[in-house]
Amino acid sequence: MDVKVKRSRAENEPAEVLVLSHFDGDPALQEEAAAVDRALQGAVRDLLKTGEFHGKSNQTVLLHTQGKIFAKRVLLVGLGKRKDAKLDSVRQAMGTAVKRVRQAGARSFSTVVHGRSIPDTSDLELAQAMTEGAILGGYQFTVYRTSNGDQPKDVERMILIAPKAEAQADVKEGVRRGVASAEAAMFVRDLSNHPSNIMTPSRVAAEAKKIGKERNVRVKILEQRDVDKLGMGAFLGVARGSHEPPKFIILEYNGSGTAKRNGRAGQPIVLVGKTITFDTGGISLKPSENMEQMKADMTGGAEVLATIRAASRLRLPLHVIGILPATENMPGGRAIKPGDILHTMSGLTVEVQNTDAEGRLILADGLNYATRLKPAVIIDIATLTGACAVALGQFAIGMFSNRDTLKQRIQQAGSKSGERVWEMPLWDDYFEQLKSDVADMRNIGGRGGGMITAALFLSKFVGDCPWVHLDIASTDWSDRERAYISKGPTAIGTRLLIQYLIDETTTAHS
Ligand code: BES
Ligand code: MN
Ligand code: ZN
Repeated sequence: MDVKVKRSRAENEPAEVLVLSHFDGDPALQEEAAAVDRALQGAVRDLLKTGEFHGKSNQTVLLHTQGKIFAKRVLLVGLGKRKDAKLDSVRQAMGTAVKRVRQAGARSFSTVVHGRSIPDTSDLELAQAMTEGAILGGYQFTVYRTSNGDQPKDVERMILIAPKAEAQADVKEGVRRGVASAEAAMFVRDLSNHPSNIMTPSRVAAEAKKIGKERNVRVKILEQRDVDKLGMGAFLGVARGSHEPPKFIILEYNGSGTAKRNGRAGQPIVLVGKTITFDTGGISLKPSENMEQMKADMTGGAEVLATIRAASRLRLPLHVIGILPATENMPGGRAIKPGDILHTMSGLTVEVQNTDAEGRLILADGLNYATRLKPAVIIDIATLTGACAVALGQFAIGMFSNRDTLKQRIQQAGSKSGERVWEMPLWDDYFEQLKSDVADMRNIGGRGGGMITAALFLSKFVGDCPWVHLDIASTDWSDRERAYISKGPTAIGTRLLIQYLIDETTTAHS
């Protein structure tokens, strides 16, 4: 979807559909809606009076204007109660609106900046959130359908009306950021939606190579023999059960030419993404129910790819490196078996008591590789544990970190992006559960605290580097469609990472 910013007034805008919003229970209409209502001789107020429209979150009403204004139709969308409204209310309202516009058969719509009265939000942030909601709300994955039934066509254009000249630059910048982060999230949804027979480690590597064509991005693919030489016994251990060759993918975006001009050091931010293109569990085979969802066990890696691409497209003055250990987790004649001991690249040995705890194994080598890059920060993102979903459900990413300021920055990016994180403890007391009788540690922590013991396992491979671990196993997949969240892969985490990078360029380091 194309997004344009235009200087105009709502009541003068010749739109297929004009989208306006309202806070639930507000007696007065917002400025633009009031102007349109006057031109429509009170038609909007009538809907409020009769109780047909309240403005509840994601409620919509479509009305025809019968030539009284230039717009053919007006779509009212609810923002929920004013006191509960956040940036995400606006994102959701636009996701809902775009679906309603599509259903009405329209290919474009115009709208204004919504939610101006929401505390602590700027025009830039509102425009960004609106753009994200509209683009992501229209997402569909149709590449494998040979006919589209009677589905209405996609909405092609959103026109964002900004009446005041002063706000134009901010709104435009918001749209630019919104487009980049929504396109990144759609790219991730696509990658995670593709089935594992298509989205193999080799295909992920090919996708990375395409990103290598973007400005200031370089890509290196390490093959099996290369990682063998480096001693990545844990990553290669997981790959042993599969016929698909593993790939260790490294992407480097260096926008630090600009970074230097801004007086910033070139130490990289390193992002490490779990990239299991299918997780059968290996010899510790998973039950078959819902196993197809394990095609999305590469979402962390996909998010890292998309974030690097977005950093380049936004020309962020940063140095960012992405690392994707990519392999399948399969049972096979050569697969690792419970009790096997692997030598990680760090030198630590791991007893594999469950081959289904494979994410932490590939990340052990991925993280250790990251520490060798003299990073400013390491952030790993992974569909790591079912326990994450048990603890946090659908609405929070599990976060672990060894640095307080870093934590706060991630939390801030989480609330801005609507991809919220919840902190979990990294206390060493839990390490008891990871002790092995025969190796330095084992790869499972037994009953209780499954998300925590997995994170603690990872912490042994980051040395003293500032580090954040994000467990997205609770949020990467949605079992129903929501305002701007698709059913199936959600790409949650992508916009969080991008927002974190944007914030790194605009706020001073402490
Ligand atoms: N990829 C899974 C975690 C997962 C489960 C992600 C459900 C999304 C939805 C991971 O590799 C896994 O299998 N974890 C095991 C670890 C256990 C064996 C210690 C789990 O959570 O059951
Ligand atoms: Mn697993
Ligand atoms: Zn997995």
